Amino acid sequence: MKEEKTKVLMINGCIRGRESRTWILAEAFLNCMRASATDPFTYTQLDLAQMDLRPLTGKFFEERQKLLEENNRMHPRFDLARQFAEADRILVAAPFWDLSIPAVLKLYIENISLDGITFGCNPDGMYGMCRAKDLLFFTSRGGFYEGGSMEQGARYLQALCGMFGIPDFRCIYAEGMDFQPERETEIMGRALEEARAAGVQYWER
Ligand SMILES: Cc1cc2nc3c(=O)[nH]c(=O)nc-3n(C[C@H](O)[C@H](O)[C@H](O)COP(=O)(O)O)c2cc1C
Repeated sequence: MKEEKTKVLMINGCIRGRESRTWILAEAFLNCMRASATDPFTYTQLDLAQMDLRPLTGKFFEERQKLLEENNRMHPRFDLARQFAEADRILVAAPFWDLSIPAVLKLYIENISLDGITFGCNPDGMYGMCRAKDLLFFTSRGGFYEGGSMEQGARYLQALCGMFGIPDFRCIYAEGMDFQPERETEIMGRALEEARAAGVQYWER
């Protein structure tokens, strides 16, 4: 029987297009990841800033609750959640905004966090229902946060991996971009090296 191709899902929450330092890191990774692939794979990229993602309010929220009550989890409005749950490898790129992530990425998360699709609940608590074995997160930050409790972006995505049942989380970042602009080339250089190495090694995992 023919084996299914690995499904790689890239969730792009970068706002500044090609100017984005975060996206530059992600692209460096993608180039090496593509070049080192030995088997064919599918690559799907969601450019969140171009999508019409809606917050869960009013009728949009009520419709969701009704569909869940009716156990209608195949409804098209849950397509994004099913796509996330079925991906084998997940990539996320998003800048550090307001100590966390941009709202478009939060909107996406709000729309894919679905009981019965990406996670489940039982009397013991929540359990993950996603297939992905890892989530690799690319980010860049204006200041320096490593290890501190003020950093709520990578920390949040890592916690979500626990909820979704994705066992492996890694963050590749460049920080201090705005606070020490004179060091930007040096810091980006190191982060780019890390991103390229992760791309080369991606299929070994
Ligand atoms: C709306 C907004 C909010 C930001 N919030 C923070 C912040 O809370 N802390 C910080 O260190 N930098 C913050 N920054 C700076 C960015 O993290 C930094 O410039 C980053 O490198 C931007 O990534 P990008 O080049 O991929 O867009 C913010 C920037 C913007 C535009």
